[in-house]
Amino acid sequence: MMTNIKSVISGIGGYVPDYILTNDELSRMVDTSDEWITTRVGIKERHLLKDPHLGTSYLGIKAVEDLLQRTGVKPEEIDLVICATSTADNQFPSTASKIAYGCNLKNAFAFDIQAACSGFITGLTIADGYIKSGYCKKIIVLGAEKMSAIVDYQQRETCPLFGDGAGAALVEGTTEDVGIMDYIMHTDGTGYTHLHMKSGGSISPASHETVDRREHYVYQEGAHVFKHAVSDMSNVCKELLKKNNLTINDIDWLVPHQANLRIIEAVARLTEIPAERVIVNIQKYGNTSAASIPLSLWDNQNRLKKGDKIILTSFGAGFIWGAIYLKWAIE
Ligand code: UT7
Repeated sequence: MMTNIKSVISGIGGYVPDYILTNDELSRMVDTSDEWITTRVGIKERHLLKDPHLGTSYLGIKAVEDLLQRTGVKPEEIDLVICATSTADNQFPSTASKIAYGCNLKNAFAFDIQAACSGFITGLTIADGYIKSGYCKKIIVLGAEKMSAIVDYQQRETCPLFGDGAGAALVEGTTEDVGIMDYIMHTDGTGYTHLHMKSGGSISPASHETVDRREHYVYQEGAHVFKHAVSDMSNVCKELLKKNNLTINDIDWLVPHQANLRIIEAVARLTEIPAERVIVNIQKYGNTSAASIPLSLWDNQNRLKKGDKIILTSFGAGFIWGAIYLKWAIE
């Protein structure tokens, strides 16, 4: 074990598709309004990949291309690709394998992980282990989602919430005092049925009946999930601060999962971090599930300085939630 090294995010790439679905257009599709969505969720628009022949791998490939271009890293230098997604191109094989092929990452092994909206931070904890073990030198961790493929655009409770996109982080080792310092992750399976897709898996394979019942879309009991998201993210942030002998005053940026502006504001209030130190971009992209945190970093990289202390926190289906404390490594 190479325990004297830390893993750092040394580059961030991202991609959102061109098509923008505004609240006004949505209001013509279902019984909703710009006013309801803005005040209850904080979203104004979301980007959608409209081409039915393109899947999540297309978004992931674009994000990895952006990452390689920004960092100058050559495709053959990548050892591992971890793709966090709930909207894989196919049930199997992995979307990561398609992304690795599409980007010519010929020396990388690749796999997907399923941790819903917490997929990206879960992927970072896995990458941290591979870097510290010395097995990998350069890892790409992606959050990539074509949520529009699993959202029911006849259901007003869910269709305003989600958007498509992908964010990719390059993770490497360093001996400097930057990078991933610590993390805490949790799972509570009692949350399983409150946010899930009812059919299409081994418990209820796709059939004409399941399609007729529209069970291949996101099912969410919003108010229940909302309460857990607020309490679990704020508690895990406090737990992580305490474990590292930090107070919120030591933290430069909170980067929360972007599911609902009211959730983000409540987590900020409960952790007592001022709003100007909280990264928010939900108004532009909606909830992009596993892509939400890397897209937030990608979107705001000009504001982040080397050495900034950052907490990433996420909550999602499972329920799975957690927080990572890191020091930003990019100049
Ligand atoms: O990313 C993974 C984790 N996911 C989350 O963290 C999401 C957590 N949940 C939420 O963000 C919120 O619960 C929602 C945004 C999903 C819903 O907001 P809410 O404030 O919890 O609304 P609600 O479900 O309690 O519904 C309130 C009212 C209902 O009408 P009545 O029964 O009061 O007459 C709904 O029918 O709002 C109605 N409603 C809508 N009205 C207009 C629900 N969706 C809409 C809509 N437009 N799109």
